[in-house]
Amino acid sequence: MKRLLSVSAISAAIAFTGATAFADGHIDHAIEARQSQMTLYAFSLGTLGAMAKGEMDYDATAAAAAASNLAALTMLDQSAMWPQGSDSASNDKSAAKADMWANFPDVMAKGKALGDAAAAMNAAAGTDLASLRGAMGPLGGACGACHKAYRESNN
Ligand code: HEC
Repeated sequence: MKRLLSVSAISAAIAFTGATAFADGHIDHAIEARQSQMTLYAFSLGTLGAMAKGEMDYDATAAAAAASNLAALTMLDQSAMWPQGSDSASNDKSAAKADMWANFPDVMAKGKALGDAAAAMNAAAGTDLASLRGAMGPLGGACGACHKAYRESNN
């Protein structure tokens, strides 16, 4: 439920910040904040992915910690991180396609898919390697689906 609320908050932010006057500095900070959040996603996913591929020995405690952090990150309220005018066409620090701001329902659905996949991984990662591997495809797929649609491919 919390996760659904935070996903809705993204769309509310996208819908309402158009009316808010953001100084350039605020836009840059918002872009940095969301890129930092993405970096944290990638750090947790990297640990889980390395275990899934056998590049790192499976360790139930470390896997559970990475999955728990990732699930918690997906529940952060990102509403202030996606202001209007922070797309890649408007700001060269961003790789977010302007299409994102034109497709709220789809962005919400992709955010929810990530939350669901992260919750499933959180339930699986500490159990055993087979469970972790089973949850990996949907999780990586949720990241990739949004990047494919809304992130510039050269980033
Ligand atoms: C709902 C859409 C969405 C989902 C889901 C998503 N991302 Fe992203 N991601 C983006 C967008 C858009 C950008 C570009 C942001 C920008 O530059 O303003 C991005 C950028 C990134 C970056 C580059 C950050 C930087 O420093 O420039 C990384 C790394 C990343 N994502 C990892 C992930 C991982 C790992 C997942 C899944 C666990 C994930 N993302 C899920 C939309 C998404």
